[in-house]
Amino acid sequence: MNQINPKYAFELTANPGHEPTAEYGPRQARILNQSGLAQARDAISSWPGYAPTSLLRLDGLADALGIKALYYKQEGERFGLASFKPLGGAYAVLRRLQAEIRERLNVETNVGDILAGKFSDLAAGVTVTAATDGNHGRSVAWGARMFGCRCVIFINEAVSIGRERAIAAYGAEVRRNPGSYDDAVRTTFETARSEGWHVVPDTTDGETFEAPRDVTQGYAVMAAEAIEQLPADVVPSHIFLQAGVGGMAAATCAQFWQSYGDRRPTSIIVEPEQSACWFHSLQNRRPTVISGDIDSVMAGLACGEISTLAWDILEPGAAWAMTVQDGAAEDCMRLLADGRHGDAPMVAGESGVAGLVGLIALAGDKEARSRAGLTETSSIIVFGTEGATDPEMYRHIVGRTPEEVTA
Ligand SMILES: Cc1ncc(COP(=O)(O)O)c(C=O)c1O
Repeated sequence: MNQINPKYAFELTANPGHEPTAEYGPRQARILNQSGLAQARDAISSWPGYAPTSLLRLDGLADALGIKALYYKQEGERFGLASFKPLGGAYAVLRRLQAEIRERLNVETNVGDILAGKFSDLAAGVTVTAATDGNHGRSVAWGARMFGCRCVIFINEAVSIGRERAIAAYGAEVRRNPGSYDDAVRTTFETARSEGWHVVPDTTDGETFEAPRDVTQGYAVMAAEAIEQLPADVVPSHIFLQAGVGGMAAATCAQFWQSYGDRRPTSIIVEPEQSACWFHSLQNRRPTVISGDIDSVMAGLACGEISTLAWDILEPGAAWAMTVQDGAAEDCMRLLADGRHGDAPMVAGESGVAGLVGLIALAGDKEARSRAGLTETSSIIVFGTEGATDPEMYRHIVGRTPEEVTA
């Protein structure tokens, strides 16, 4: 076994609400279930450019970490948007438009009819809106363009110009809102209420259900693909899941739970230390808001309030929560770009590496490693949820462009 170097600082807490042997019950199935997944898969797989993203095996890094196998789901390949996010936001735009058509024309539609422009007049009169720290807004804007709706996206002060441009490139109007991501969420709802627009949020405080549920159900397609791509004889022991509001982690945890039952992998939630709303919510056994400066280089994870919809899955479903530091995410991007442990060089973005940062941190600490049950027989999956969504930021951190890394 090689040694992993440097070691990453972290905090680890056991989730006191974890129910490792509980069945996937009605509380969870109300949000995510197999018929919802089938519907989402059916729709998403018919969008132009759909292909499952690769599940890579990082043998060099696995060896350095002293585990049996490490699988990395490469969402940098997704739909040319470089993140897993179109699975959620764009899918929820489609579902909203289908509901509008149903309500106004009393017609059930399929994706093909919408993509063929059969309802283009109605669609052009529908405005969808969302708050974003980058990737969700890009996904909603991309979906709105694909399905012919108007789109207005609210971003907060910290969102980079590169990410703002990437959203505007899909024809959306982008409005910069003072304050944090959570402030932008509030402004989005207020504006939508006064303008008659449809909010497509990736989070909920309990008031809205359908759109964030559809977003989360769309994300489950990523997990379902991964489960199918795993070798038949591999039952993963652990999954490391980065969390912002928790939708991605909930979708993935739920899909593994439904597929593997009580043999399901140990789910570990990973967040930046300054925006660790899941870490504190799980520790306190109730949703807990983090305020103050929550900005992180892991921009997609810089959220101070959990999605209550994800709570119903992760409170019983997650075994551990941990926090990691911005510097470790930057180092991990370079580690993958360099192929430092003998794996092929790979492009991974700031938020996308967080789960892997958590694994590297835990694996390098003898006591935490044993607490979380990591051994040389562990087969682990991480989700590389973004590639270079902001190529300029990527070059700044890694010192090379994404193209140079993969050349
Ligand atoms: C690349 C990336 N990974 C992970 C996440 C976390 O997803 P969630 O907010 O559903 O927890 C985000 C959220 O924006 C993201 O952009």
